[in-house]
Amino acid sequence: MVNPKISHRPTLCYRPVQPSDLGILEQIHSDVFPIRYESEFFQNVVNGRDIVSWAAVDRSQPNGRTDELIGFVTARIVMTKDSEIADLLRYDSSKGDQTLVYILTLGVVDAYRNLGIATSLIHEVIKYASSIPVCRAVYLHVISYNNPAIHLYKKMSFKCIRRLHGFYLINGQHFDSSLFVYYVNGGRSPCSPLVLVTFFITCVKTGLKSVAAKLRKNEEKMVKWPKCKETRGLVPLQNKQTIKTELSGCEYV
Ligand SMILES: CC(C)(COP(=O)(O)OP(=O)(O)OC[C@H]1O[C@@H](n2cnc3c(N)ncnc32)[C@H](O)[C@@H]1OP(=O)(O)O)[C@@H](O)C(=O)NCCC(=O)NCCS
Repeated sequence: MVNPKISHRPTLCYRPVQPSDLGILEQIHSDVFPIRYESEFFQNVVNGRDIVSWAAVDRSQPNGRTDELIGFVTARIVMTKDSEIADLLRYDSSKGDQTLVYILTLGVVDAYRNLGIATSLIHEVIKYASSIPVCRAVYLHVISYNNPAIHLYKKMSFKCIRRLHGFYLINGQHFDSSLFVYYVNGGRSPCSPLVLVTFFITCVKTGLKSVAAKLRKNEEKMVKWPKCKETRGLVPLQNKQTIKTELSGCEYV
């Protein structure tokens, strides 16, 4: 695929961010984000101190810039119990310390956008999180007006689970943020559709069992009661239709 903003066919590769990326990493952050980051943050990224990161480079980039960053993602492992979304996960403290991966920053230089680079970088984060057995989810915040990023996360099956009012303060103005989550390794929200469906099935099963038990009782009565002899052919209970028939039969008795 050739991007109209670049005049050659890119050869995209992904690798860890390294100390030689420091200058360009700072430059892209200041170009693409409205928020300023401390130099300590960049030092931590390039030296892998408590931060994991991936870089995208274009091996076909002219002028010998074949190893220059054109995109990046940075992330940090956080303990589920210390995170702001502990209540949104089926967190089981008996299973030891569960973790999450929090995406700190994600960016692609303008000329390389819409080539699937951010998608690939997020896939790297998801693969990494999935490889940690105690990790339950990848999550992040996105400013409410960032439509390209919101589109991207939704396309990648991230779920928006919370809206935080006035979360960002930029140039004296407050902006809302959306919190997106991608569950891994069986991590689930306590109210996920799967849990609700399971709950519904359990209720139906329990209901059916109690109806069946009542019917069995009635059948025993019927056996003792000569007037009900003609209904005995309906047992044992097999399906809902049988239950209905037998219930109405008993009501008549
Ligand atoms: C958000 C960002 C990382 C996406 O990078 P990218 O490499 O262009 O992303 P991809 O090519 O993998 O996917 C982009 C998707 O967004 C869509 N998109 C682009 N602009 C869009 C817009 N204005 N509105 C809605 N969707 C848009 C593209 O069509 C594409 O979706 P598709 O695959 O369904 O066509 C990039 O735009 C960026 O660096 N923005 C500035 C920094 C930023 O906002 N980071 C995220 C902070 S949470």
